[in-house]
Amino acid sequence: MSPDLSALLYLTSAVCFILALRGLSHPETAQKGNVFAITGMVLAVGTTLAQPRMLAFGPIAVGILIGGAIGIAIALRIQMTALPQLVAAFHSLVGLAAVCVATAAFFSPESFGIGTSGHILTGSLIEMGLGSAIGAITFTGSVVAFAKLQGLVSGTPLNLPLQHPLNALLALGIVALLPIFAAAGQASVFFAIVALALALGFLLIVPIGGADMPVVISMLNSYSGWAASGIGFTLHNALLIITGALVGSSGAILSYVMCKGMNRSIFNVIFGGFGSAPGIGGSGTKREQRPVKQGSAEDAAFILKNAQSVVVVPGYGMAVAQAQHALREMADVLKHQGVQIRYAIHPVAGRMPGHMNVLLAEANIPYDEVFELDEINRDFAQTDVAFVIGANDVTNPAAKTDPASPIFGMPVLDVERARTVLFIKRSMATGYAGVDNELFYRDNTLMLFGDAKKVVEGIVKTFG
Ligand code: TAP
Repeated sequence: MSPDLSALLYLTSAVCFILALRGLSHPETAQKGNVFAITGMVLAVGTTLAQPRMLAFGPIAVGILIGGAIGIAIALRIQMTALPQLVAAFHSLVGLAAVCVATAAFFSPESFGIGTSGHILTGSLIEMGLGSAIGAITFTGSVVAFAKLQGLVSGTPLNLPLQHPLNALLALGIVALLPIFAAAGQASVFFAIVALALALGFLLIVPIGGADMPVVISMLNSYSGWAASGIGFTLHNALLIITGALVGSSGAILSYVMCKGMNRSIFNVIFGGFGSAPGIGGSGTKREQRPVKQGSAEDAAFILKNAQSVVVVPGYGMAVAQAQHALREMADVLKHQGVQIRYAIHPVAGRMPGHMNVLLAEANIPYDEVFELDEINRDFAQTDVAFVIGANDVTNPAAKTDPASPIFGMPVLDVERARTVLFIKRSMATGYAGVDNELFYRDNTLMLFGDAKKVVEGIVKTFG
């Protein structure tokens, strides 16, 4: 294949990736986005395989077959709630690949056209050093993130003595070794950089609470993109540079959006140890013993049937219970009876970006009934029922009223303004942020205790 044709095909593939990102920004266009992504990837792999320097197709075919089979098996079996750890595992592979490619380029520079053994171009040495350092941080960091999310190790933050100075020392060590490596190109320096970066990745992520992992994963996603981009320079592959930069910047933007949705700075996530205070970091902490109004499925069915407008607020508990299909069934019955049903999605409801949108789309809930926080928040005052299903923190008014609360400043859905608030959850336990929710004790709140799916199925049964 001529260099011009391969450049054109790589450019087309890069455009496909940009269109894919654009498509993936909305559930309605997400499928089209995926088609663009697949097309871009087929073009990218096909063009790479057609390069004149491509000598050994056998091992590549074996790699694609084994990797493809594993990928298909995982995609078919993975639960939606396990996606964050899967993403973390995939990122670790991107980081590892970056280190492997840099190592291969270092020991066989001739194959990469970047010089000869012992005489590698300075620019390439810099790219290699940077790419492998970021790749190694991504690798160990993602492995720790995976282990925490999968429950293989405790999600509790592990605060080591002198942790921040130690991390700073490691980072400084890497920064100091990079110019030495660029000047001398010694193998020992290369491996020292990789070793320090592996340790830094591990130590950076270990202290972060399991609850903050989604932001961390998005950050690691960004790192993996920059690592790939760095390696793109070593390989003289424009597509890898562009794609890496796309992944790097979109991961960074996503981390920013998530932090904004939680009203926290990225530094607070990395250094703040959120989730380290007792009770923070997941369901299970019972805070208060005040009386609450408790209702049954029959009570809820009665209230819902007599409402004119209902706003459903889904949260993490809906994902755990996989209650979206039962919810759709309930909404269909109510709509049939003339009740207006809308869905309010908080930007950080659930445990990953777009978590609720994906689940609602899976249950074929029409997109035009689904609204973002900014679009719907003012309407709660004119709403008969706020139907909160497995959500907690994203409705907590402490975020608006209690400056001492860890979630103070986070934008929340004003469900308390609705005439009645129905809360489906299993107990009085707190959510992710570990803070009690004042709304449970309010006069216009009715708690419906139980697994979200079972409660909603009970309501549908009562409709008859
Ligand atoms: P949470 O505040 O975590 O509350 C979820 C509630 O669901 C829990 O209180 C739990 O109470 C209930 N629940 C769990 N399993 C259930 C089941 N099977 N049936 C019924 N209820 C169940 O969730 P949220 O309101 O969606 O807020 C998300 C939180 O995650 C925010 O604090 C946000 O900052 C954080 N976060 C989100 C993201 C992204 S990107 N989405 C990233 C990082 C952090 P019980 O145990 O009593 O049932």
